[in-house]
Amino acid sequence: MSLRLGDDAPNFTAETTIGTINFYEYLGDSWGVLFSHPADYTPVCTTELGRTAALKEEFAKRDVKVLALSVDPIDKHHGWVKDINETQNVTVDFPIIADEDRKVAGLYDMIHPNASATATVRSLFIIGPDKKLKLYITYPASTGRNFFEVLRVIDSLQLTANYSVATPANWEEGQDVIVVPAVSTEDAIKKFPKGVNVVKPYLRYTPQPNK
Ligand code: BEZ
Repeated sequence: MSLRLGDDAPNFTAETTIGTINFYEYLGDSWGVLFSHPADYTPVCTTELGRTAALKEEFAKRDVKVLALSVDPIDKHHGWVKDINETQNVTVDFPIIADEDRKVAGLYDMIHPNASATATVRSLFIIGPDKKLKLYITYPASTGRNFFEVLRVIDSLQLTANYSVATPANWEEGQDVIVVPAVSTEDAIKKFPKGVNVVKPYLRYTPQPNK
């Protein structure tokens, strides 16, 4: 059965480029991004892992631990990492799982047989400190993901986990947010001292509360 939002993220132990990892232990109390790619030594994947490494400080700032996966073996991963570092001008130091037996791919439903019988698609899971699944996206092999969008979504998830707000379309860190429908306008005015702009009774904006 496939995973749904709010489900427990399955735990696993796996061989990675930084040694054997227990997923929950690796995450600790941090947020996590687990993402699969189709294969090593492929062009789009090379740019994706390079981009992830380049954004290391952005992930760290948000207390997010990153973990990549493909079904290729560990020695292939190590060789490919050298190429990524060279061509993308980065140092990949986050772990890459060698999921040769497809154990993790199976737990997270990363193989979509109508896309490829053997390779993982570009799935990405965001896991909260409570180990619940907060978001997932799946792209085909031919389309590289936008890692700025991944950071944007993490900003939204972390904000909305702590305040009774939601983020509107195309929201970016620092912009006004939406008061959730469960909060009455009367309560919103008390909760959000920076002000509430009532456009419609169901559409109410407030400045980002943690800024
Ligand atoms: C790539 O990562 O470049 C790729 C992998 C599989 C199919 C197409 C592109």
